[in-house]
Amino acid sequence: MAQILYITAHPHDDSQSYSMAAGKAFIDTYKQVNPNDEIIHLDLYKENIPQIDADVFSGWGKLRSGQAFDDLSLEEKDKVGRLNELSDQFVAADKYIFVTPLWNFSFPPIMKAYLDSVAVAGKTFKYTQEGPVGLLTGKKALHIQARGGFYSEGPAAELEMGHRYIKIIMSFFGIPSLEGLFVEGHNAVPEKAEEIKANAINRAKDLAHVF
Ligand SMILES: Cc1cc2nc3c(=O)[nH]c(=O)nc-3n(C[C@H](O)[C@H](O)[C@H](O)COP(=O)(O)O)c2cc1C
Repeated sequence: MAQILYITAHPHDDSQSYSMAAGKAFIDTYKQVNPNDEIIHLDLYKENIPQIDADVFSGWGKLRSGQAFDDLSLEEKDKVGRLNELSDQFVAADKYIFVTPLWNFSFPPIMKAYLDSVAVAGKTFKYTQEGPVGLLTGKKALHIQARGGFYSEGPAAELEMGHRYIKIIMSFFGIPSLEGLFVEGHNAVPEKAEEIKANAINRAKDLAHVF
């Protein structure tokens, strides 16, 4: 039985969002194909995702200097404890599905806060004399992203920084490849929007059979 983390960074559901619609098609089909897998939905707009702030730095500093977790202030305990939960949950999973819209060439900021919460030395990567090494080898990741323009090829391709960032950080964690499923061009060619969406939903269902 595999554990799947379905991580969505969107304030809307599938009725208003193309990326969430493709994500839902993927995860619903995945559930049917893999009924024994455990799927955990992390809705980042509803979850408590602490940012790395002064409380987190002071809490980490106290732990590094040998103080017990119980010695941390309430704020430090809340935030550092939650960050630990998130990174432990990430390490325990076997497969990751990220769902984000493309906003201003990247993903919503809550996704960055989440990725910061799981980028932890000793858990997702470690430092060696040869440089950092990822610890999540053998896991799989998929990123589903809707974007109004075209970024798969053409002049805008190099401007896209959301998928590229997730790819870099997955590789940093040792995950060899990040698959991408894109719903794109529906704002550029609005008369084809429904067709573009339907096509992406079909691709999402197909991918769920083999992911
Ligand atoms: C705040 C914001 C920023 C956006 N930035 C871009 C962008 O940089 N490039 C682009 O092609 N489309 C951009 N769009 C359009 C969205 O990528 C497009 O509407 C996409 O469908 C959003 O995903 P969703 O349908 O899951 O909400 C932006 C939309 C919003 C609301």
